[in-house]
Amino acid sequence: MAHATRWADSPAGYGLVSRILHWAMALLFVWQFASALLHVFAEDTRVEGFFWSTHYSVGVTLWLLVLLRGVWGLANLRRRPAHEGPALEAGAATLGHALLYLLMIVVPSLAILRAAFNGRGFSVYGLQLVAPGGTANPTFTEPANLLHGFLGWTLLALVAGHVAMALYHGLVRKDATLDRMTKGWSDKGRQGLEGGGGTGRGAFEPRPGLLRTAPLGPNPRA
Ligand code: HEM
Repeated sequence: MAHATRWADSPAGYGLVSRILHWAMALLFVWQFASALLHVFAEDTRVEGFFWSTHYSVGVTLWLLVLLRGVWGLANLRRRPAHEGPALEAGAATLGHALLYLLMIVVPSLAILRAAFNGRGFSVYGLQLVAPGGTANPTFTEPANLLHGFLGWTLLALVAGHVAMALYHGLVRKDATLDRMTKGWSDKGRQGLEGGGGTGRGAFEPRPGLLRTAPLGPNPRA
């Protein structure tokens, strides 16, 4: 069994670093998509003006956090919890997560390149990173013009699917998936192994210490 520390991930659940990154990014994504939705549906209102004025800075923050999360995820890859359920479902979850990461990196990266090379200057939290002036370089601005909005909405659809699946695991299947990202461990057994297979790696392991403190049942061989 890989050792569960407070900070690192383990097969029993996600450590503090992963959970803080996950929930902080979830909140910031709510904010970011609120600014994008207001930009479309409430243009030129005061609330849109306020939220849209934060779109660049929150977007850059999300970009930095996803890079950090990617590095942390790779460092913890071998000891992370396995996906629950039959192999096909677990494979779909792996693919879905890979796509989420890809878009979480590509969507802000395209916009940052455009902002840096469109000649209008680029500020984050009031800090001028690129001064205005010069001409726009279409090699760096066109990809975002074509794709930033479209891929941004695709990311929103994937995030909605991700939330729906998390709720399905927590409320319908009542397995350990949601617990691992909230509490960091679970005392729920692993679902989907019986008759469905499961994904092999890791699987359910009890909270560190549970094994030592749980009362032992009668020994059937005694
Ligand atoms: C993960 C981070 C981001 C997400 C999810 C996101 C999402 C979106 C979405 C969905 C739209 C479409 C709104 C519409 O249809 O009008 C949009 C537009 C826009 N975003 Fe972002 N964005 C992010 C980061 C950034 C960053 C970092 C910048 C600037 C550095 C930026 C600049 C813009 C601009 C200028 C537009 C309007 C033009 C366009 O649609 O391409 N965004 N964003």
